[in-house]
Amino acid sequence: MKLILLVCLCAVGALGQEDYDDYGTDGNKEAKEVVDPRGHRPVSRGRETYSPGPAPLLPISGGGRYRGRPTAAPVGKAVQEKEEHPDSGGCNHMSEKMGLLCPTGCELKKTILKQERNVKQTVEQLKKSVEDLTQSSNSIHGYIQDMTVEITERQRVSEGNGLLASQYTDSLETQHAYIKETVDITFPQNIKILQGVLEKIREKIQRLEKAVTLQRAKCQTPCKVTCPIPVVSGKECEDIYRKGGQDSQMYMIRPDPLGTPYKVFCDQTTQNGGWVLIQNRMDGSVDFGRRWDDYRRGFGNIAFDVGKGHCQTPGEYWLGNDHISQLTKMGPTELLVEMEDWSGSKVHAQYEQFTVQGEASNYVLAVGRYTGTAGNTFMEGATELFGENRTMTIHNGMMFSTYDRDNDKWIPGDPSKQCSREDGGGWWYNRCHSCNPNGRYYWGGAYTKHMAKHGTDDGMVWMNWKGSWYSLKTMSMKIRPYFKD
Ligand SMILES: *[C@@H]1O[C@H](CO)[C@@H](O)[C@H](O)[C@H]1NC(C)=O
Repeated sequence: MKLILLVCLCAVGALGQEDYDDYGTDGNKEAKEVVDPRGHRPVSRGRETYSPGPAPLLPISGGGRYRGRPTAAPVGKAVQEKEEHPDSGGCNHMSEKMGLLCPTGCELKKTILKQERNVKQTVEQLKKSVEDLTQSSNSIHGYIQDMTVEITERQRVSEGNGLLASQYTDSLETQHAYIKETVDITFPQNIKILQGVLEKIREKIQRLEKAVTLQRAKCQTPCKVTCPIPVVSGKECEDIYRKGGQDSQMYMIRPDPLGTPYKVFCDQTTQNGGWVLIQNRMDGSVDFGRRWDDYRRGFGNIAFDVGKGHCQTPGEYWLGNDHISQLTKMGPTELLVEMEDWSGSKVHAQYEQFTVQGEASNYVLAVGRYTGTAGNTFMEGATELFGENRTMTIHNGMMFSTYDRDNDKWIPGDPSKQCSREDGGGWWYNRCHSCNPNGRYYWGGAYTKHMAKHGTDDGMVWMNWKGSWYSLKTMSMKIRPYFKD
């Protein structure tokens, strides 16, 4: 019985095992005791003073690029005609000449394939255990039977030998009676129970095998989403809105007339629309613990068609630092960060100024003019901290860091002091954060130090709303040209 339980536990343990990617191979086993898990890092060694970073780079000169929208009616439904176009849905590249933002992965597919390997292995192990068990209970049975035969034989012989042996035989018979009882009553009972358990395990294995086969079949064909791309296109989503593209969905944009167009999700409803979605988290389906190059190019799934004939549901993605930088450099740009907790409450943070420098300057962030309900983490840091502890959580003026490219303010040059490694995603880390929109996705909100990979608050955190140990349910960042109403 114990053995069976053990087998079951092992199986559950193995199945539950996360196939976690480990960042590279170099030493990330830094001394845990100096890690302060509250979003900032201790000042005790190699102090860094916070430098406020570049002053807001955007002169807000009387209203920016746009001064309200044209009063003429939008071009209308004629423009909204849709052209059937095979969309990658995040798995494959589509036709080259469309020059899409290569979405890097059908994450689900990858995860399932990863999991499948584990499950398959466990199933094999289980199978073997079951076989072993069956065999050993059979052999116990056999052994008992042999013994019974032997005792009967001995009884016969001892009768022939007369009284001399009778004492010995008596004791042997007592033993035999005991053993026989065990064999006849206790063992069969146990074996019956064992068989029941085995049967259950067998059923489980069959179900698992079925599931594995099903998943394998599903993953055999690369997942493709057929997504009609609207004919209406533009420099960015505000431009598209003015041209009549007023539904929130995926569009092709071409910010640079000489550059290749790429796909984005346009939010055309929030605050009169015109937003390019540059970051989106909503279900943890995409891994955000990625390299510099991924963050530079962008990754994830732009949008899905959930049966309405067009891609009106955004996926989880990062638009890419090059794209973001270029969009913000076209003119004054505003940023809207929206988030929701696991009970459905929503808050937002809005910045009338938002610029991201190019790769040569490691995508330095500059924001200004906050309004909103979430708290100004970007400029003020975590309000629960004080003095330098707070300033070291300010994001404004920071360079972008990923686990393979450390540009944060936490003891630069020390490879064991890297915010991005500890906090789960690429971000404008300081030392380290007061918000962590690209952090790990934790289902349900509250999480603990023990659940975190490095004991730090690596969740999708917005400290000034929910603190360090609450990971939000959804979070998104969208930008549009800034214009005064
Ligand atoms: C900063 O944090 C450290 C450790 O968490 C604490 O000892 C120190 O008092 C804090 N400083 C201020 C100004 O709050």
